[in-house]
Amino acid sequence: MRNCRLCRAEGRGTDPVGGAPAPGVPGYDSAGLAVLNKGIKTRKVKGRVADLASAVPARFKGGIGIGHTRWATHGVPSDVNAHPHLDSSERIAVVHNGIIENADELRAKLTADGAEFASETDTEVLAHLIARTVKDTDTLADAVRTALKSVVGTYGIAVLDAERPGEVVVARNGSPIVLGIGEKEMFAASDVAALVRYTRQVVHLEDGELAVLDSDGFHTFTMDARETAKEPLTVDWDAGHYDTGGYEHYLLKEISEQPETVARTLRGRLDDRFHIAHLGGLNLTPHETRAFRRVKIIGCGSAYYSGQIGAQLIEELARIPADAEPASEFRYRNPVVEHDTLYVAISQSGETYDTLAAVQELKRKGGRVLGIVNTVGSAIARECDGGVYLHAGPEVSVASTKAFTSTAVAFGLLALHFGRVHDLSPADGRRICEGLRRLPGQIAEILEKEQEIAELARKYAGHPSMMFVGRVRGYPVAREGAQKLKEISYVHAEAYPASELKHGPLALIGPDMPTVAIVPDDELLDKNLTTLGEIRARGGQVLMVGHRVAEPKLVDDCIVVPKNEVELDPILLTIPLQIFAYHAAVALGRDVDKPRNLAKSVTVE
Ligand code: G6P
Repeated sequence: MRNCRLCRAEGRGTDPVGGAPAPGVPGYDSAGLAVLNKGIKTRKVKGRVADLASAVPARFKGGIGIGHTRWATHGVPSDVNAHPHLDSSERIAVVHNGIIENADELRAKLTADGAEFASETDTEVLAHLIARTVKDTDTLADAVRTALKSVVGTYGIAVLDAERPGEVVVARNGSPIVLGIGEKEMFAASDVAALVRYTRQVVHLEDGELAVLDSDGFHTFTMDARETAKEPLTVDWDAGHYDTGGYEHYLLKEISEQPETVARTLRGRLDDRFHIAHLGGLNLTPHETRAFRRVKIIGCGSAYYSGQIGAQLIEELARIPADAEPASEFRYRNPVVEHDTLYVAISQSGETYDTLAAVQELKRKGGRVLGIVNTVGSAIARECDGGVYLHAGPEVSVASTKAFTSTAVAFGLLALHFGRVHDLSPADGRRICEGLRRLPGQIAEILEKEQEIAELARKYAGHPSMMFVGRVRGYPVAREGAQKLKEISYVHAEAYPASELKHGPLALIGPDMPTVAIVPDDELLDKNLTTLGEIRARGGQVLMVGHRVAEPKLVDDCIVVPKNEVELDPILLTIPLQIFAYHAAVALGRDVDKPRNLAKSVTVE
């Protein structure tokens, strides 16, 4: 084997080791690698991959290796807590994503047995455990399997054994592992993004699977050593998707791509003859679709907010009661799972642990789950009964933009489909089809206003805090706008339903707290304008985002976006808020694509 790499951040993000710093490596705090060359050689540093690259000597060579970027869970970010971790005899090296829950107990036992720990991490127990079992087993895979039997928690691991220089063993339970098949070389990573510059032939491991990699290929097994058969998948994203394409940041590139990504989500899915949507992957007959009496949508972060837009679309167009809830809450509250509720899980990455765990809980209880997912073949996509792929291409920047709009558009298609199976008239079906088709062009029109919005962002970015308000359809837009601003610019932002302002948060309004108000031209326009008057009367500045310029006595500034159908307007109203957050973050000198403390793909609880 010429190469075998594991690329991970402790439960979050991925980064190929040894090359130039890769995109999509968010929020991590230390990096390290180990290669096999007459024993195990390691280099580990607190900092980013670029810091590791400068710490690695020119003659640091080996036949196979593992590497890792860490996002601290146990122990502070430091050189010594960085992965890989070795046992005291330096025979075994391990990199690990996830959390070993019984690490303290295992550490105490191993210490009593003479093991000497170098770090404070949960991962180091794995190295000691495997080193203890490897002496009595015929294969490294057996040693890993035996060691993992005493482990409680989640992991995606890669293991090197100094005495078996031809192979790497990887195993998965709750944290992703993807194998990449090369020409006389094999790769493993926690994310397809780390593999595409080497190969597009990949194999996803399931929870409870282990794989042995050598230069000729791979074998996969269950934890009780039964060999499993895996079909490689060809990913249609390539390395070209992972450069900034001349933009200063991935975020700006991804915002700018939205006319095209929304068009891709829609492509081939609208039927102008019957004014319906074709969604081939739903695996639901019209009869089954009619039988659902409720829709429950789950997702985390921006995925959850796009689910709120989705719930409204489904209620309005299909008249099926629908609501969205954070998957991270849903999974812990022992939810009542009903046979006549359709569950919809949303995830750009398809690997968010909380969302995956919620889907698994639903499946255990017999729930029917659809996935709205961007990453083909990802864990959530595999776990669901059917679903809709976004086809938005890889999203690299931590803050979600194009996946958010494509998810909302996918809900437009789903709501149209459900609506036409229920009582949405052909005329309304046609209205929505035409509205969906107008979206890419209208998004392009909004993008032309970038400089105008950038100026407003610079004007407002100096405030310590901002309020975002919206009513009904505008409320999820306000929530996503506030989320974008806080996550990338670190400006405190609160989102409230405009109707709730007077029930508490109005007390915060004053010259230091400007408000971004989402004011679409819909049946609630007058009510929204009244709210603006209330804010202005308390000395608050107002930046209105809507379909017309409001009177100067109500607003300080306006961003006007093109009008679509009222149900679809939230999708367009989100775009200026993305641009606003981006330019606020740039004005404040933030690390736009990799905001502090955050990760793109949160594969830990
Ligand atoms: C993280 C990211 C968010 C993202 C959320 C859900 O928290 O920082 O930007 O919205 O995960 O990710 P998913 O891949 O499941 O859509």
